[in-house]
Amino acid sequence: MADLAARARDLDTQHAATDRRSLFHLPAGVVYLDGNSLGPLSRGAEEAVTDAVRRQWGEQLIRAWNESDWWGAPERIGDRIGALVGAAPGQVVVTDSTSVNLFKAVVAASRLRPGRSTVLTDPDSFPTDLYITRSAADLLGLTVELVPVGEAPARIAELGDSLALASYSQVDYRTGELWDLPALTRAAHDVGALACWDLCHSAGVLDVGLDDGAADLAVGCGYKYLSGGPGAPAFVYVATRHLAGFDTPLAGWNGHATPFAMSREYTPAPTITRARVGTAPMLSVLALEGALAAYDGLAVGQVRERSLSLTGFFLECLDALGIGLPVATPAEEARRGSQVSLRHPEAYAVVQALIARGVIGDFREPDIVRLGFAPLYLSHADVLAAAQHLEQVLSRREFEREDYRTRAAVT
Ligand SMILES: Cc1ncc(COP(=O)(O)O)c(C=O)c1O
Repeated sequence: MADLAARARDLDTQHAATDRRSLFHLPAGVVYLDGNSLGPLSRGAEEAVTDAVRRQWGEQLIRAWNESDWWGAPERIGDRIGALVGAAPGQVVVTDSTSVNLFKAVVAASRLRPGRSTVLTDPDSFPTDLYITRSAADLLGLTVELVPVGEAPARIAELGDSLALASYSQVDYRTGELWDLPALTRAAHDVGALACWDLCHSAGVLDVGLDDGAADLAVGCGYKYLSGGPGAPAFVYVATRHLAGFDTPLAGWNGHATPFAMSREYTPAPTITRARVGTAPMLSVLALEGALAAYDGLAVGQVRERSLSLTGFFLECLDALGIGLPVATPAEEARRGSQVSLRHPEAYAVVQALIARGVIGDFREPDIVRLGFAPLYLSHADVLAAAQHLEQVLSRREFEREDYRTRAAVT
């Protein structure tokens, strides 16, 4: 145990340059391992919202759309997120939810590949991806095939020119497995199809590499690792080469080339602005911008290094403390996102027992204890504390308490 504590201290010293904890409000005594579900409040977000409410909304009133450039915020913040996901400026815009953006992306991608009948996605996708992909495909008369990522390249080759789109998550929300974005994108391109990526569990914690990986479209979430706040707006990426052909199914006035001309006809903006729909929820948009300040001065590669160190150290602690639960997350670094998921038949109750001890993670069906390691504010000392609490929850069988088995509305 003393060894682990010394190692945690050493690792924290080694990674001191990427420690951004002082920029976040985290309650004392809490180890927060759920930043992959709802990032915590940051000082940047708090200040941005306060300024947006008091000065911009309170004093500037409607003039704030121009004077504080509210109108340009979705593209401005899109470029900031673009820098984190490997997208050159002008390809990312902050708008809507991930679900709505995925709908726009699947329809637009299919329209970019007319005459092709099939869309491929992962049966283990986050459910909204399945529902949205099916609803988009139904509207267009396309077929959705559910093919696990590992089998996708072979199936893509078989489908050939009947494939319009392969739509996958870069990191599996349940297991935390990191998939090979460039390789799967290449497989889709080899048959003339497009690739769309859901970055909900990768944006802000690893080198997503959208441009380098030749991704066509991508969507992602603002409220997880980016810490934009509850219900923060999401983002959508459209590669420059597809912008002119990005034919949105949701033609709203914010995506118009000249919205204040109040024209009867829809003319899409020539830029990424065409992916916008209606008026942006400005307080949430600005909260997200404030939260992103936590990344200032950091390259995403440094964040990834810290993330791998945290998850790697957690795996080491599990071993050293004799916690023998099956690990659903790959140990291999190249295949590991920023979470560690463990399997336990009473996973829900294990998570509640951990929360009672101040270690906040979450449960995912059917048997996953999901622990997210958001690198900006977690330390190796936190990681060790979490592992020690887990060991006690298991060895003292705290998960057997009846009240830990009663499911809340949100798990
Ligand atoms: C992989 C993935 N995609 C999509 C979503 C849903 O995003 P939204 O609520 O913004 O539509 C989630 C939410 O947890 C998710 O994990």
